[in-house]
Amino acid sequence: MKFRKLITSAVVASFALGTAAPLFADEGHEHSKKKRFEESQVRHDVMEHFGDGFSKIGKIFKKEAGTFADFPAIAADMADAATKTKASFLKDTRGMKGHTEAKDIIWDNWDDFAERLDKLEVDTAAFSVAAKTGDMKLIQPAMKAVGANCKSCHDKYKDK
Ligand code: HEC
Repeated sequence: MKFRKLITSAVVASFALGTAAPLFADEGHEHSKKKRFEESQVRHDVMEHFGDGFSKIGKIFKKEAGTFADFPAIAADMADAATKTKASFLKDTRGMKGHTEAKDIIWDNWDDFAERLDKLEVDTAAFSVAAKTGDMKLIQPAMKAVGANCKSCHDKYKDK
């Protein structure tokens, strides 16, 4: 890897991610003790891969833990999780007993919701490919593209 270049662009990228990464790191933890029904638990656990990925990335930029050499594994994990996300929401669980932060309107707007998850799959796959190059010029925009999927969906389809 070209380290000097990596570090300069890392500073730039940390600005881009600065607000997103910590946001996801702690999200949902106050709910973690509530009893979920099985489907809710499965999709929650899939989603945690994205939260964990951005949390790890945030720590790398802040020099708290990990190194840029961890990027390919982090991105690959997110891409793998994304291939399982849509399936984890397929079942309409409206009215099921137990905790979930998934809003009912997911299944009223299934096509829109599914399309968003298809896009997440495409964007995380591209991030995974970019991460393997070790080139921050390619990694940064790919990472930003992944991050752009999260909040807009949560705002519409996830309880706070
Ligand atoms: C297409 C919609 C959609 C996209 C895109 C999406 N999420 Fe989610 N996410 C949800 C929904 C809905 C839940 C709640 C699931 C449940 O509780 O049943 C959730 C839950 C989570 C959780 C679990 C925490 C909690 O409060 O339950 C984390 C962490 C998370 N998402 C992170 C992310 C990150 C990071 C991204 C972007 C890389 C992302 N999500 C992209 C819809 C989405």
